Amino acid sequence: MDGNGRWAQQRGLPRHEGHRAGARAVREVVHGALEMGLRHLTLYTFSTENWSRDREEVDAILGLLRDEVADNPFRDLDVHMRWHGRAGRLPTDLADLLQLRERTTRGRTGLTLTMCIDYGGRDEITRTAAALARRARAGQLDPDRITDEDFARHLPHPDMPDVDLLWRTGNEQRTSNFLPWHSAYAELHFTPGLWPDTDRRDLWQAVTAYTGRQRRLGAESPNPLPL
Ligand code: IPE
Ligand code: MG
Repeated sequence: MDGNGRWAQQRGLPRHEGHRAGARAVREVVHGALEMGLRHLTLYTFSTENWSRDREEVDAILGLLRDEVADNPFRDLDVHMRWHGRAGRLPTDLADLLQLRERTTRGRTGLTLTMCIDYGGRDEITRTAAALARRARAGQLDPDRITDEDFARHLPHPDMPDVDLLWRTGNEQRTSNFLPWHSAYAELHFTPGLWPDTDRRDLWQAVTAYTGRQRRLGAESPNPLPL
């Protein structure tokens, strides 16, 4: 979800107004995802690198996030909310709220909405390597026989599915440390529009572009799309 700052700048507004508008776009796109029957929507909300922004902006983003999660806009929808990222560095009231939402929406089976907050792909891979090293040191795992599946089982959130479509708004063509393990075979989709201007029609277009791709996953003939 890129482009909040530029959206605000274009209007002569402070950056936090761009983030506020970005939060409205999240609500809109979640409704679109439910309409389309998507099973998973994973949002890169706050990265491990975002801490390096001005203190004022970091506080504004985290405060806005807390207000959104407290407001609970998806309370009446079939949305299971999850948080993916580092525990321990976020303000405790925000972390507590995220955990509460995760617990109380656990039974919902429609859309799994994962918010990546204090998330970084290299951090995730480093922590996975540490978990594997601990198992090996305890004699529970032979380092010479570690497989992809072993690695995946030791990820901080082992039940996160692979990414089918990775979509970035804001006119940048890079993935910036987002879900590198899960995106190994993701279709990439980059769009010029700014995140706060995004609505469900853009999600529809992104998914339509995805369905036009041929995914061979290393095989010679096309595989059926998993959507
Ligand atoms: C994305 O918008 C929101 C977050 C990273 C939290 P930006 O804040 O990166 O917006 P630009 O790139 O400055 O326009
Ligand atoms: Mg940006």
